[in-house]
Amino acid sequence: MKRFYIETFGCQMNVHDSEKVTGTLLARGYSQVDTPEAADLVLYNTCSIRDKAEQKVYSRLRQFKNGNGRLFGVLGCVAQQEGERIFERAPHVNLVCGSASYNRLPELLSQLEGGARRVTGLGLDTEETFETPLARRDNPHRAYITIIEGCDKTCAYCVVPFTRGPERSRPSASVLEEARRLADAGYSEIQLLGQNVNSYRDPSPAGWDFASLLDGVARTPGIRRVRFTTSHPRDFVKAIVEAIDANPVICNHVHLPVQSGSTRVLERMQRLYTREQYLERIGWLKGARRAIAISTDVIVGFAGESEEDFEQTLSLLKEVEYDSIFSFKYSPRPNTPALGLGDHIPDEEKGRRLTILQEKQRTIQMRRHAALVGGVEEVLVEGYNFATGQWIGRTSQNRIVNFTSAAMPAPEGGTLAGRYLRVRVTRAGPNSLAGEHAEDGAARDLL
Ligand code: 5AD
Ligand code: SF4
Repeated sequence: MKRFYIETFGCQMNVHDSEKVTGTLLARGYSQVDTPEAADLVLYNTCSIRDKAEQKVYSRLRQFKNGNGRLFGVLGCVAQQEGERIFERAPHVNLVCGSASYNRLPELLSQLEGGARRVTGLGLDTEETFETPLARRDNPHRAYITIIEGCDKTCAYCVVPFTRGPERSRPSASVLEEARRLADAGYSEIQLLGQNVNSYRDPSPAGWDFASLLDGVARTPGIRRVRFTTSHPRDFVKAIVEAIDANPVICNHVHLPVQSGSTRVLERMQRLYTREQYLERIGWLKGARRAIAISTDVIVGFAGESEEDFEQTLSLLKEVEYDSIFSFKYSPRPNTPALGLGDHIPDEEKGRRLTILQEKQRTIQMRRHAALVGGVEEVLVEGYNFATGQWIGRTSQNRIVNFTSAAMPAPEGGTLAGRYLRVRVTRAGPNSLAGEHAEDGAARDLL
């Protein structure tokens, strides 16, 4: 039997693609192993959003001077971006395949198994999405479902439109069918995935938009939580907030990447909204019936970002009071429009701005978390941390809660993983909460 190893870098789309690729390989009779040394086929599913991510795959490939009878494949965004150049930099690579060509993987694998030395899947002209009933999901309770692939935006810094190709939405009936199948298989949380889920357009005659799809998936019997990522502010409509209000199954958390608080920078980034338009959407979220947690992505040091522009991003943080942020130094990427812009900021200055930004956010998070102490949160239990002796759960707002449970102090003869429990918050840190499985609810929860 052939053995394969796969390592995944980057976003949740990549994580889920790897689950589909894994399922495809298992169905072909391969078995999965935990180290590249033990494998006949070594796959890296790569990310090229920033230079650091891209360099990782080359450092992995350099660990093997040659194949030594092993086959190597580079999948994902670096594969699409670099194409056949990968064979020059790493001559022992045999397969280079971008995400828009994964439908061709069975055929490409047959060629490799037949002795071909170099095969590629680099087409971007597909109108199809990569769907397979074979996906081998890593988490037994929470499942990803891809609803849209690719991206039609042209953000000046971003490689994604080049690496994942144009937008293709999946028919609503197929999404709903997968949700039903997952519920039957015991999954209780679904996360809808796409580079820009808000521009979802059902290609079937039903013609659903994203808010209708969200509502439809949330009505699947057995599904207790539905999340979605990522939203583009330009396409984020009020109907999404109304859907969250109408159905508590839809998690009260929205990730709405802002990138910068300065309208001047947003324009240079080709983000298609102003600071004011972004804040209007934040206003919708804050006006919702349930408290909706808001998170974002920020890039500091984009080409031409002045000190004043940066101050605007800091003031936006203060105004919105995000529940969490992901922040990055701008990294110039091949093929992207921003390469043509002048005024690149020195790395040291980007680092200084990043530190200031993260410090400021830490204070905000500390304050927001402190306000939750004493309250009770419902968590979906994800696992147990043996080092700390605490269970790990996640709230609908996507906060991590580490907690103890008198009813089951440790996973012996059973586990709390997969359960929905009510936990009293006793302490707050900047990135997580700590608590105790609520006494009053414990008996009922564990029935
Ligand atoms: N440099 C730095 N950060 C980037 N992102 C996307 N492209 C770049 C880049 N060239 C960030 C954005 C995006 C997140 C996924 O990664 O903030 O929302
Ligand atoms: Fe990049 Fe913009 Fe597409 Fe997001 S929406 S992936 S930032 S181009």
